[in-house]
Formats: sequence, C-alpha cells, structure tokens
Amino acid sequence: MKRVTAFIGSARKQATYEAVREFERNLNSYTEVEFEYVFLKDYRLEFCRGCKLCFDKGEEFCPIHDDRDLLIDKINHSDGVIFATPNYSFQVSAPMKNLLDRLAFVLHRPCFFGKAFTSIVTQGVFGGNSIVKYLDSMGENSGYSVSKGCVLTTLEPITKAAEEKNSRKIKKAAARFYRVLMRPSPPNPSFFRLMMFRMSRTTMKEMLSDEYCDYRHYKEEGWFQSDYYYDVSLNPVKKLAGWFFDFIGHRMSRQS
Ligand SMILES: Cc1cc2nc3c(=O)[nH]c(=O)nc-3n(C[C@H](O)[C@H](O)[C@H](O)COP(=O)(O)O)c2cc1C
Repeated sequence: MKRVTAFIGSARKQATYEAVREFERNLNSYTEVEFEYVFLKDYRLEFCRGCKLCFDKGEEFCPIHDDRDLLIDKINHSDGVIFATPNYSFQVSAPMKNLLDRLAFVLHRPCFFGKAFTSIVTQGVFGGNSIVKYLDSMGENSGYSVSKGCVLTTLEPITKAAEEKNSRKIKKAAARFYRVLMRPSPPNPSFFRLMMFRMSRTTMKEMLSDEYCDYRHYKEEGWFQSDYYYDVSLNPVKKLAGWFFDFIGHRMSRQS
C-alpha cells in the first residue's frame, strides 16, 4: 500500500486541513492509501541560523537539534507528499517556509527521487497561483516527481458555488497526483531539468574539490559521469543536448 504524508502549514485545523481531507478521500477512491497528517505547528522546528554548515560540510553538522530529522524520516518513509499551506501575505505560511529553509541543503543534493509531490494552497482572495508555482518548483528541485498543485479560494462565508469549484479542483489534483504516485519509476527529465543537472554538475566538477560536501556527494553518487541523477534512457536528441549542456557548463567554469 502506498504511503502519503501531508505536511500542513496552517496554525489551525480549518480550510487547509479540510482541503487535505477531501484530497485524501478522492485519492482513496482510486487506491487504498496509508495517509498521515503532519501539522507543522506540533513539531519543534527552529529557524535556520544561516551558518551554511549543511551546504558546506553536510546536513549532519546543523547546530540545531530539533525535529528536523524526524520530519525528514517521514518524507523518506513516504511514497508521496503533499505540502499544504494557507496563503499568508502572498507566500506560504511561516512554518511551511521554515521547513523549506531547513531542507534547503536538499536543493544542493537532491534526494527525493521517485516520490510524488504536490501542493495545496488555500486563500481568501488572491496570490495563490504563484505560491503553487513556488512550491512545485521546490519539489522539482528537491528531486520529487511533481504533480501540479491547486489553489482553493475559501473566503468566508463560502458560497455553494465556490465549494463546488474547490471540490472539482481537488478531484482533478488528486487524479493527477494518483497517476504520479503509481508510476513505477521516476520520469525522463525535461530539457530544462536536464540542462540544470548537466550544467551544474559540470561547473561543480571543474570548480570545486573534495573539500566540498556537494562535490563529494556528486562524486559518490557517480553524478559527474551519469546522464542524469538516476538511470534513464535518453533519446538521441536529449543525449546530444546533454553533451551540449556539459559543454556550456565547461565554458562557464573556464570564464569565471
Ligand atoms: C496572516 C494572514 C495573511 C493572509 N494573507 C492572504 C493573502 O495574501 N491573500 C489571500 O488571498 N488570503 C490571505 N489570507 C487568508 C488565508 O489564506 C485563508 O483564510 C486560508 O484559507 C486560511 O487557511 P486555514 O483555514 O487553514 O487557516 C491571509 C490570512 C492570514 C491569517
């Protein structure tokens, strides 16, 4: 049975929680899922102190000893995750942003390959689309297989028409997530993702050394030689594009 964990960034159990519950009901109509609700407000997660030890030496050197690793364990034991947050001043809520900051080292060393990701944003009126874009991009850059998130307008008192519109959006989002969740292997990268990987790995290979945690990680994973982060069969056009992106990365590192 697939395991899905929802990380909820609201301080209260209302619109965002209800949206996730409806999402879970929809998902369960496709397949039985073991579902966990993680309310970030219930976990001890301090603010990042900006020392960058996680980037430079490794995440195990973080000077803060709180619930970060417990939350990471929850992700590692999931087949899919949902990041659900209210829109607060055109951004994710503070607990959600804090979680993303504390996981920022994953953007340097992506690791959540093969896990499905989606986002749910609730809002009063406006601004949620850019938050979904932001969250989905965080998902992509962390290595997840992303299924596009949804924005729900929950302005109170909510009308019947708005409720029905939200239900339709949740239903579609759950169907998208289900398809990604059931994929047997992570997807073939888009040109953009291939470019990001090849250019960054080439510049890193040429500009860094064993002193750097990112360099050691890329070396250990075999990412300085591989076509992509994980095994994929690139078609001839993508193979060529990959070499071209390596070449551009090489030129960039020589010029800097
Ligand atoms: C501090 C704060 C800031 C908010 N900022 C926005 C905003 O910028 N745009 C918007 O459409 N709604 C905004 N809202 C409304 C919430 O996004 C909306 O009520 C949400 O559904 C609340 O989710 P919850 O019931 O799970 O707490 C804000 C609410 C609060 C409390």
